[in-house]
Amino acid sequence: MKNYGYFDDQNREFVVTCPQTPYPWINYLGSEAFFSLISNTSGGYSFYKDARLLRLTRYRYNNVPTDAGGKYFYLRDGDTVWNPGWQPCQTELDSYACHHGTGYTTISSVKNGLKAEQCVMVPRGYRAEVTKLTLTNESEAEKKISLYSFVEFCLWNALDDSINFQRNYALGEVELENGGSVIYHKSEYRERRDHYAVFAVNAPVDGYDTDREAFMGLYNGFGKPQAVTEDKPRNSVVHGWAPIGSHNIRRTLQPGESVSFVFVLGYCESPRDQKFVAPGVINKQDAHTLLAAFQSVLQFDEKLLELKEYWEKLLNHFTIQSEDAKLNRQINLWNQYQCMVTFNMSRSASYFESGIGRGMGFRDCSQDLLGFVHLIPERARERILDVAATQLPDGSAYHQYQPLTKRGNSDAGNGFNDDPLWLIYAVEAYLKETGDFAVLDVMVDFNNDPSLAAPLKEHLRRSLRYTTSHLGPHGLPLIGRADWNDCLNLNCYSEEPGESFQTVSSHDTGIAESVFIAGMFVGAADSYAQLFTLMGDDAEAAYASAEKDKMVKTVETYGWDGEWFLRAYDANGDKVGSGECDEGKIFIEPQGMCIMADIGIDNGMAQKALDSTREHLLFEYGVVLNWPAYRSYHLNLGEISSYPPGYKENGSVFCHNNPWIVIAETKLGHGDLAFDVYRRTAPAFIEDQELHRTEPYVYSQTVNGKESFTPGEARNSWLTGTAAYNFVAASQAILGIRPQYEGLMIDPCLPAHLKTVTVRREFRGTEFTIEIHNNAGGEKGSVSLVVDGEPLEGQVIPVTEATKKTCSVQVTIA
Ligand code: BGC
Ligand code: NOJ
Repeated sequence: MKNYGYFDDQNREFVVTCPQTPYPWINYLGSEAFFSLISNTSGGYSFYKDARLLRLTRYRYNNVPTDAGGKYFYLRDGDTVWNPGWQPCQTELDSYACHHGTGYTTISSVKNGLKAEQCVMVPRGYRAEVTKLTLTNESEAEKKISLYSFVEFCLWNALDDSINFQRNYALGEVELENGGSVIYHKSEYRERRDHYAVFAVNAPVDGYDTDREAFMGLYNGFGKPQAVTEDKPRNSVVHGWAPIGSHNIRRTLQPGESVSFVFVLGYCESPRDQKFVAPGVINKQDAHTLLAAFQSVLQFDEKLLELKEYWEKLLNHFTIQSEDAKLNRQINLWNQYQCMVTFNMSRSASYFESGIGRGMGFRDCSQDLLGFVHLIPERARERILDVAATQLPDGSAYHQYQPLTKRGNSDAGNGFNDDPLWLIYAVEAYLKETGDFAVLDVMVDFNNDPSLAAPLKEHLRRSLRYTTSHLGPHGLPLIGRADWNDCLNLNCYSEEPGESFQTVSSHDTGIAESVFIAGMFVGAADSYAQLFTLMGDDAEAAYASAEKDKMVKTVETYGWDGEWFLRAYDANGDKVGSGECDEGKIFIEPQGMCIMADIGIDNGMAQKALDSTREHLLFEYGVVLNWPAYRSYHLNLGEISSYPPGYKENGSVFCHNNPWIVIAETKLGHGDLAFDVYRRTAPAFIEDQELHRTEPYVYSQTVNGKESFTPGEARNSWLTGTAAYNFVAASQAILGIRPQYEGLMIDPCLPAHLKTVTVRREFRGTEFTIEIHNNAGGEKGSVSLVVDGEPLEGQVIPVTEATKKTCSVQVTIA
């Protein structure tokens, strides 16, 4: 078992110790509007707000070798050419380490006594990626170094950039300043764009290049740029073809001497009526302001410190100290960090999502918010309003919207009948976190049309009614194109090769029903009823409660298979996820969702369903989605059966739904069993980094299942609802710290090995220190609370305007 890196808890970093990781291990820089993806070998790209529409630099997905394209520094020391990140020259390094931290990455390497440290960040408040490159001569002799920087510009629209070459090769334009220290990429600025990119270094240069072929040589790869191998910058000015930015700087370093440079890659704008200062000469005001902030190493260091402090403060909103170091590191940093990334990216840009295919998901955003809302509630509020504004007047939803325009589109389909209910879950989470009921009266568009605007609570009303007005023959919710499982397409019937299951026209005959949505509806209707009671609308609350009770009965009658909850009825009215089926007998999702909604807890169904889940779905690396996996294509089931057995929605551990089982186990009070499921997918608990393949510090969407060829191997890291739901499972179900409309509930369900746990949590302006003493072992036990020295009736600590700013809670579990 080879290890490629380790957690540095003290410095809040994951340290990669070898460049040839089993897959590129990346980090995300930026958490506001400017974003960069950076791999441990300095691959990746940058964009402003929208990975598809405002892409600054190019990246080549699915390339050979992998991870081709990035922000590279070439160092020429004598005849040796190398890169601090090893790629793309692949010159063997004497030492290498890549530190992925909170919004920054530092790669530092040594070759032949020359040390290079490349520290990259997206500073807060700036639309730029800024790099400090420090070179130190650690040898005994003088060194003459020739340094080349490199970025390749994208012509903004990443989709067009990768297909429309007849146009693209004519467009490229640049401008230079300060003898080439400052390179402006201004393609399309002459016409409808009011923005340009800048790539600059804070030092005079000895040459530059802006034409890719002049720099590389037409037949060379990134690893053999002719300007570097010949040590001769071409001083090229590109016209069309492929614009790049490259600076050449030559320095002589005495033994022990060090030199640092600051490189800025920025996104800049001009007012539309002041785009040019002379014919053809762009207005560089915005860039000058940006560059002035990063003229010195001191300025860089200040901004880096500020960034680290920002994250430290943010992560302080929820911290834990316990006997389990892996759990601590999972909660205190990596899980929350990933929640921020999924909140920002939704499913748009990763090393598996091209930034072109998918935007902000309606369901995805709503779910991601559950794990993010405690960090920056104001941003969660804004997101809720954005998402709700794309909802359609009948309560249904576009499956996604574009981040830049914030308008819904059907590129990823629509008609996913669970979508509307996620809005209720998101608003519930926001209200429970903040108590900001005023948000319910904010006027929000339907379908981005201001003439259709209505108060947010009306959006919730239509969400709820969308389900109650779309019920099937058994009284269960109609599934539409699919539910949470995008690939369970019971109404699509696709026979055309290559057709997208998301957009193929749906043959919805009003028969196919989802038990998953039924469970989800019960959960939503319950919190909806509580909410409307609080708002004084008893009639609406009574309506929701009655519908909820009806749905519970329907699930118990038609959604129960004898040993577990059924998954669905297909368009023929036949069962899916039943013991009667040959394949796909049992599915994880309805077990999790129904029990989370408290269905079957009082009558033994829930316990049976969880026993069956353990028996049929659980294995070493988690709980698989369905079993047995489908072995052939089923027209009536759709995309799920398009995947080979054990992969993706067809029998992998689809990590996102594992925490549902964790939460379900805690509903029945099984602390040990809950934790057992939790640790199987939690990154900090991964033992075999080589087998796992993707980053061992964040969740991946799937881990190949027991029926696959490589059980335990993960794919599709970073952008997955797994992050949010695991944070909910760990913080609210296992640790039991649960925001309620009225206050903070403390209801832990711990595994036996956690005996003393201290949680610090900020909640509505109060800093809670919660010390839990677990004397009950691995089953739940009874919980009693002493709040600021006074015993408390019940488990909810009321929080009002008048509440003190600190609060200490002693929790005893007997
Ligand atoms: C994938 C799903 C994904 C969907 C979204 C499918 O091909 O398997 O996991 O959610 O596409 O477009
Ligand atoms: C990925 C999507 O982003 C998520 O919303 C969905 O629920 C899963 N795929 C399952 O299909």
